[in-house]
Amino acid sequence: MNNKAHHMTRNLVASLIVLLACVWMGGCQSAARPTLYQKIGGEAGLERLVDLFIQEIGRDKAILPYFAKANVSRFRQGFITHLCDTLDGPCDYQGDSMIQIHTGMQITEADFNRVVELLINAMTEAGIDHTTQNQILARLAPLRGVVIKM
Ligand code: HEM
Repeated sequence: MNNKAHHMTRNLVASLIVLLACVWMGGCQSAARPTLYQKIGGEAGLERLVDLFIQEIGRDKAILPYFAKANVSRFRQGFITHLCDTLDGPCDYQGDSMIQIHTGMQITEADFNRVVELLINAMTEAGIDHTTQNQILARLAPLRGVVIKM
């Protein structure tokens, strides 16, 4: 074997060892780059966050009226599954689309912004760091257009 081929073989073996170690240690993705779902503490963290969010809604005079006829435990479960899915957790939200759910609610831009504020309050109370908060908000931002005034 010439010198170059020898080097290539050695590099290949080294790469394979790194790859195998990575898989053996429980998955390269979770080791190197946790999902947002993992960053907020998985299922328990997500449930805690949503419960804090529901408490925030319950204390807000502008937002609470939207939920006058809502079934809170259904909302809680649907919101948890939807957020879990959105944050790359092991969930597949199969409920009604965001358009279907919010159509007819006449949600104003100001009230949408208020709900985002309530979510930020809940994330802060849950001890979620600001970088993670911003990443979560970035995932939800595209829904703004389908939730407002439909
Ligand atoms: C990005 C923003 C939002 C997301 C991702 C979101 C997500 C959801 C989800 C997943 C559900 C359904 C739960 C289920 O039944 O399966 C839901 C229900 C609901 N959402 Fe939103 N929502 C957003 C913004 C808003 C805003 C701004 C308001 C009001 C100001 C609002 C008011 C409601 C109400 C009242 C329900 C309950 C409907 C019912 O059960 O009768 N949502 N939302």
